[in-house]
Amino acid sequence: MSVGVDSGDEVITTPFTFVATAGSIARLKAKPVFVDIDPQTYNLDCKQLEAAFTRNTKAIIPVHLFGLPAEMHSVMELARAHRVAVIEDAAQAIGSRYQGKSVGNVGTCGCFSFFPSKNLGGAGDGGMISTNDPEFADRLSVLRNHGGHERYHYEVLGMNSRLDALQAAILRVKFGWLNRWTEARRQIAKRYRQLFEEAGLDKRVRLPVEPHGLFHVYHQFVIRAPRRDELRDHLRNSGIPTEIYYPLPLHLQPAFAYLGYGSGSFPRAEAASREVLALPIFPTMTEAQQRAVVDDIARFFAGST
Ligand SMILES: Cc1ncc(COP(=O)(O)O)c(C=O)c1O
Repeated sequence: MSVGVDSGDEVITTPFTFVATAGSIARLKAKPVFVDIDPQTYNLDCKQLEAAFTRNTKAIIPVHLFGLPAEMHSVMELARAHRVAVIEDAAQAIGSRYQGKSVGNVGTCGCFSFFPSKNLGGAGDGGMISTNDPEFADRLSVLRNHGGHERYHYEVLGMNSRLDALQAAILRVKFGWLNRWTEARRQIAKRYRQLFEEAGLDKRVRLPVEPHGLFHVYHQFVIRAPRRDELRDHLRNSGIPTEIYYPLPLHLQPAFAYLGYGSGSFPRAEAASREVLALPIFPTMTEAQQRAVVDDIARFFAGST
């Protein structure tokens, strides 16, 4: 709403994301236009972006999925050339950096989620939008407060989207811990890599990538594995919880069937949805817990050869 997206406009984004990314577009009666992902990073494949622009394109929403920044240089270049807004979906990526710049500080604005499971989570729902433009910030604060600067006077149609004071108080305390937690997540990711290598599993499963210049905050540690569903059952039987982000890309969801995409429209997103598995990761995870995960994965593959 704040960048002026309206009915009939198009907004380019990825089909391999949480529903809210595209839902925010569709709710304005604008059209989500999906572009397939890079199979290594799971983020928008910028080589395919250009072809998605039409004269109705109003914005791009790159998603920094799992805590890894999207390829923002190309996104910004294309956005400037086509004069469209860039809304960074940084819901999973607070603290991550693209070539030294914090995510949410590169595009027109950045959207963060404080859902309890996020790297900085409240005790309920909440979120934040970042921008460097004071005028834009003013528009946002009006929209979140029913559309007016002054009580009982409304300039535009807004909504109630204020951060609850109780959540704000909790987040304010937890915020002081964020950098330490991020560092802990990065250490845990590093240790996972070592353990997978030691077990000779780094050829069996594909580990997450961290391209040069991108600072990953490992909201999720997502591997790609053959026989993913069997592996997940095996881990579950050992008491090790995992999750699949995401089992069905958005273009194949009934809610977006009206867009007319079908099976095969975005083969990389579809392949990822069949193979990805998010392993346990949290700042206080111990080495013994990590070993238990990797050993159990090793047992699964040992039993299958
Ligand atoms: C990529 C992505 N975008 C948007 C959201 C929506 O955030 P919220 O649940 O705070 O509305 C989430 C998480 O829930 C997410 O993971």
